[in-house]
Amino acid sequence: MATNTTPPAPLLRVTGLRKHFGKDEIIRGIDLDVAPGDRIAILGASGSGKSTLLRCLNFMEKPTAGRIALAGGLVGTERPGSGDIVYTERELTQVRQRVGMVFQQFNLFPHMTAIGNVMEGLRTVKGMDRAAAESKARAQLERVGLADKSDTYPARLSGGQKQRVAIARALAMEPELLLFDEPTSALDPELVGEVLRTIRALAEEGRTMLLVTHELGFAYHFANRILFIADGVIHEQGTPDQVLKNPQQARTQAFLARHNEFHF
Ligand SMILES: Nc1ncnc2c1ncn2[C@@H]1O[C@H](COP(=O)(O)OP(=O)(O)O)[C@@H](O)[C@H]1O
Ligand SMILES: [Mg+2]
Repeated sequence: MATNTTPPAPLLRVTGLRKHFGKDEIIRGIDLDVAPGDRIAILGASGSGKSTLLRCLNFMEKPTAGRIALAGGLVGTERPGSGDIVYTERELTQVRQRVGMVFQQFNLFPHMTAIGNVMEGLRTVKGMDRAAAESKARAQLERVGLADKSDTYPARLSGGQKQRVAIARALAMEPELLLFDEPTSALDPELVGEVLRTIRALAEEGRTMLLVTHELGFAYHFANRILFIADGVIHEQGTPDQVLKNPQQARTQAFLARHNEFHF
């Protein structure tokens, strides 16, 4: 019997990713492999391109150049000759279901209750009927500890509760990969913990996640890999011990020195 020694395809493979806005090149050549179960924390100064990178990974922004493959399948079709990638909206809608995103500002619909927010994608994107969507949404709210807030509108929820609804909404779509863009940066300090605990529980389930954060202590314990982004490239990467305790690059050292509230 033949044995298969080829390692499994990475869940996500990014090669030569570039993103321009006008003549500004914001992402300047990023290569990244994400294995199933990886928890990657992304650090970097404001304006370094962290959000743009995540937005390219779920195609809220279309890359200017480069390739993104999910579970071995290239997203888009290579145009013969030029090597350019063309994307269809239909394919990108599917990719956005496979790559969930949680935003700093929650992005909940204010006119919908918590459960309405969690159901919305199940109804409109997945085409589930109301009863099935509602029962699935309820289970997700329960999972983030908000079963009792199903019928509450966002305006009546705390920031931490809003962010947990947003996490439930992302989970409901059963993404293969979850992206978090500074999920605790908009929260009052006393509400950060409940959201980080929710994220930690997802890590313990073995979910594959990329997390942009300034919570360096959390990143140290959460991540198996850290990327430090500067000027649209991965300036330094490694294990949490390597990057956070023994950074090699001057810019990483300076960034960490500015975050001196950091405790392991
Ligand atoms: N839609 C856009 N149009 C033009 N410039 C943008 C756009 N989005 C981001 N940028 C620019 O890209 C740079 C990186 O932004 P961003 O990815 O948000 O950085 P970070 O998340 O690391 O703070 C910034 O200079 C920002 O102004
Ligand atoms: Mg950002």
